[in-house]
Amino acid sequence: MRKKLIAGNWKMNKTPTEAAALIGEIINQTSGATCDVAVCVPYIDIPAARDALKGGAIWLGAENCHHKESGAYTGEISTGMLKSVGVNTVIIGHSERRQYFAETDETVNLKTKAAIAAGLIPIICVGETLAQREAGYTDALVSYQTKIAYAGISEKDALNTVVAYEPVWAIGTGKTATDEEANETIGVIREALRCIYPGAAEDIRILYGGSMNEKNAAGLLAQPEIDGGLIGGASLAAEKFAAIVKAASL
Ligand code: 13P
Repeated sequence: MRKKLIAGNWKMNKTPTEAAALIGEIINQTSGATCDVAVCVPYIDIPAARDALKGGAIWLGAENCHHKESGAYTGEISTGMLKSVGVNTVIIGHSERRQYFAETDETVNLKTKAAIAAGLIPIICVGETLAQREAGYTDALVSYQTKIAYAGISEKDALNTVVAYEPVWAIGTGKTATDEEANETIGVIREALRCIYPGAAEDIRILYGGSMNEKNAAGLLAQPEIDGGLIGGASLAAEKFAAIVKAASL
């Protein structure tokens, strides 16, 4: 049985003061959770978020990292730096990073390795654009993205990773993959993992992300392949995020 994980991706939202307030509300409203819960926050919010989380069960996450340990990479943050301030998970290769910041399947692989080396749980994002889906490339593309992301990573390390299937056309658009579409493509991703890790693929969590909200979460989370959610917009309102956590705790 894979334990469900609900992770908020705050993107470029909230000041440290606002972050502390939102986390306080999230803690209050998710006290009965039986799933894992994470908040992935902007770098600048991390110390305030860590203090607000008070060492409780909710994971503290970052939204990105650099793959080198240190050096002349102006504006970047290493996985060791994240670890040193209490972060335990990091989103890697989000489609917005791929689209606006030139990240590639190869940089996703390097960052995944760096996260593992620092003892962080990478949440590796894969997913197709609308044009790719309409052209019939979804299955081939998500399989390829998955296999490159995990190149050179051992089965033991892969067990401490999470994949997030985020169809680009569903992100921030209010359009969601149907429960069945999301389940089917996540099944394809699991099949790709099975090719690399026959002994671990059944234990690696694969989340769905893309306009998941308090209304559609229960249907998506009831699908057998969907092990949780990576939530954008709805993670910025405690009551919506808590409702999704509740749906994952049934
Ligand atoms: P939305 O939930 O706002 O569509 O964002 C999804 C996402 O990108 C999570 O990483």
